Amino acid sequence: MSHLLEVSGLTTVFDLPNGPATAVDGVSFAIREGETLGLVGESGSGKSVTALSLLRLVQPPGRIAAGRITFKGRDLMSLQETEMQRVRGADIALIFQEPMTALNPVFTVGQQIGEALRVHGRTTRAGARHEAIRLLTAVRIPDAPLRVDDYPHQLSGGMRQRVMIAIAIACKPALVIADEPTTALDVTIQAEILDLLREMKQSLHLSLLLVTHDLGVIAETADRVAVMYAGRIVEQGPVREIFRNPQHPYTRGLLASMPGGARGTRLRAIEGSVPLLGALPAGCAFHPRCPDRFAPCSTRVPGDYAATPEHSARCFLLDPLLEGRGALPPVPSS
Ligand SMILES: Nc1ncnc2c1ncn2[C@@H]1O[C@H](COP(=O)(O)OP(=O)(O)OP(=O)(O)O)[C@@H](O)[C@H]1O
Ligand code: SF4
Ligand SMILES: [Mg+2]
Repeated sequence: MSHLLEVSGLTTVFDLPNGPATAVDGVSFAIREGETLGLVGESGSGKSVTALSLLRLVQPPGRIAAGRITFKGRDLMSLQETEMQRVRGADIALIFQEPMTALNPVFTVGQQIGEALRVHGRTTRAGARHEAIRLLTAVRIPDAPLRVDDYPHQLSGGMRQRVMIAIAIACKPALVIADEPTTALDVTIQAEILDLLREMKQSLHLSLLLVTHDLGVIAETADRVAVMYAGRIVEQGPVREIFRNPQHPYTRGLLASMPGGARGTRLRAIEGSVPLLGALPAGCAFHPRCPDRFAPCSTRVPGDYAATPEHSARCFLLDPLLEGRGALPPVPSS
């Protein structure tokens, strides 16, 4: 399978009053055609900034400081803003956590789907309504011919998220980025929306970047997973390998904090908290919380070590040349 998206060394900083702070630090990953990559990590780890960076939607004081983003062989970083606008929606679509903020309250859902299609020249004014009804039916909104004239506030949260999915798939993008698409919803509705995303992915041959803090969602939906901590991808690989044989102590902690794999539970069993932006600990950023830290961890940044050809982790425990691994006790969290 060829790569649809390749990201290499992506670095996004925020120019804060006391200097630049790195929110995404040298992130590299790839997504193949038809594949779902899950991006997981605690709040503040840089998942949304990564997602926005891919579409070059980070607003000042944020900026992409380094990295390459290649989509279907095109270098997105070198595109003019007008070309980038064509990529957004038509090639890569974005679904947010809270559909109410993404939908415009003064237009009907039909008008908004029609607008998405017209922007990319995919339909005429006359054809838009018909196409909107077809899309609402595709995302399983009952009575679509009636619902097409509803305003967002007339729909439930789950129905609004279905509308967002309809807008996302309207122009038949190759890649959908879904940033916490189910977090704001009830657990049963979450399951329905995930089913719908999986179904759309299959029937439309989409690739999906699924951003979540929920490993249960990853287990059910993703083919591969990238675990983020403090702006870096600390482990990535096939979902099965990472669930069965996690290599990074942070990933192990996340898995241990998963209550029986139940969906909808926030991660928080690891002692301590994600470091604040601009105040990253030296060395391995996880070292103050790491139960396995040893001599080099507080001074040197670990490289990305291969566990298998498809599975890697940024942890000195995988460095075959280092001795005394796991020798120091964890530091108590402040
Ligand atoms: N506009 C901004 N200005 C300054 N800092 C920002 C801005 N947006 C995000 N950040 C910082 O960048 C870091 C990464 O944030 P990001 O939103 O990507 O986290 P996240 O992993 O998506 O978290 P969550 O799970 O809560 O959505 C955080 O420290 C956040 O405070
Ligand atoms: S590099 Fe050291 S501190 Fe970081 S995760 Fe590995 S053992 Fe823990
Ligand atoms: Mg986020």
